[in-house]
Amino acid sequence: MRDYEPYFTEDGSIGLYSYADKDVFHSKYGALTEAWEKFVIPSGIKGTEENIKVLDVCFGIGYNTKALMSFIINKNNLKKKNFLKKIFEKIFIKPYNIVSKYTNNKFLKNKRLSLPIVTIESDKTLSSVTIDCLEINKELIELAPFFRTVKTPREIYSSFVPEILTCFDSYYTIRDLFENFMSRFAPKNRKEIRELLDIKFKNMHIEKEYKVNGLVNYILLNNMSDFFGEEYPDKNIKKIVTGKKFRRFFDKSLYKYAKFNQKWGYKLSSTSFLSAFLHNIYYHHLSRRYKNIDFKTSQSLFNMSFYIDDARKTILNLNEEYDCIYLDAFTYTKAPQLWSYEFIAELYKRLSPNGVLLTYSNSVQVRNTLIENGFFVGKIYNKKNNKFVGTIASKDKSKIEYPLDNYELGLCATKAGIPYHDPNLSFSSKDILELREYEFRHSNLMSSSKYMKIRSMRDEEV
Ligand SMILES: C[S@@+](CC[C@H](N)C(=O)[O-])C[C@H]1O[C@@H](n2cnc3c(N)ncnc32)[C@H](O)[C@@H]1O
Repeated sequence: MRDYEPYFTEDGSIGLYSYADKDVFHSKYGALTEAWEKFVIPSGIKGTEENIKVLDVCFGIGYNTKALMSFIINKNNLKKKNFLKKIFEKIFIKPYNIVSKYTNNKFLKNKRLSLPIVTIESDKTLSSVTIDCLEINKELIELAPFFRTVKTPREIYSSFVPEILTCFDSYYTIRDLFENFMSRFAPKNRKEIRELLDIKFKNMHIEKEYKVNGLVNYILLNNMSDFFGEEYPDKNIKKIVTGKKFRRFFDKSLYKYAKFNQKWGYKLSSTSFLSAFLHNIYYHHLSRRYKNIDFKTSQSLFNMSFYIDDARKTILNLNEEYDCIYLDAFTYTKAPQLWSYEFIAELYKRLSPNGVLLTYSNSVQVRNTLIENGFFVGKIYNKKNNKFVGTIASKDKSKIEYPLDNYELGLCATKAGIPYHDPNLSFSSKDILELREYEFRHSNLMSSSKYMKIRSMRDEEV
């Protein structure tokens, strides 16, 4: 985290600024809201399909994947159900014996446990969701489950300010009053207090349906433990998550859960039921916060892999066909590697015949690179604010609800649409930018400014 600065975005989720890339990871408007509106909703995934395969290019701290997971969990209508009996039938052994075998905890050893064990089950056949996550930065991937994603600005605010005071509308007076008052008790936290109070009064909010299901971070964490092995989470992650500097951005209880998992977790247990069983006991009897939840069955919905390398290398080793590809790279002018004609061609090969590729970019160049690769290309329309907020591409024309109009297609055919090239998928960003600059200067295509001028003159005549 040395190279990043976290901040709260306008929906209460956390954004990052990268010093190295001199770029933000998430828009100020709301990291989580953006994930829903530019990636999850426009993908057209219903969440109840039998098999879904998703490629998340540039996982970062995982908002796009988390929002998708939340959507699928909710759509599958998972509900809590008592399955105590099933466990006993299955493992045929007295619960407190198992507990004593695996822990030295006095409390568990001596207590005859009452067992309000619940799990999350569905009466329908559940989807099976494969998510392949590509990211160059290992630390970010490993931190992803610990980032808070469920706190809304209202929740943050109401933990500070009693409800009754919200009837005042003179924000600045109240804010100063509070800031002064609270800073007396915690002078070092003045900046933090102001930031939290600000959240409320800037009308920040998150749509109810955009909240992330509370199970998501646990499922993500369990998938990561499986994928990275017993060393995860390591000392570095501990330092960041439990350290003072970033504590308001992380959920410490998730870290406790991770350690519990690492020490007593299901890798020690001989059956999967036993793991669910131990988790339940822990959360019912040791942790106050996690009553009534279990992660086993909802976890089995997701099959996740994490590839930590340059996505240009990783992509060549992936042989899947995906129903949905998220392309959430840094802006194309700063990080051209993942927007080149050749990289997009690799994505094209891996998209299923009626799959969709989604990106937040509205750029003419990005759109033309998609067109030149043979995609049908359209705009992502956000009904909530009546704006086009990104680009969707597919091999199947019927997936494009808002195709580019003639004017936009014309613009793509100007110099502005000239794609980046990265012939062996190994050029540096500087070389890619220089190569395009050369092509741009020697191109016979019309410039975009001339095109726009001609079009506006024509419109005036009409
Ligand atoms: C705009 S951020 C993505 C934000 C992310 N989707 C999220 O929800 O947090 C871009 C990400 O791309 C990663 N990245 C940059 N270059 C990359 C490359 N060549 N291959 C894979 N990932 C890369 C960065 O580390 C960063 O996490």
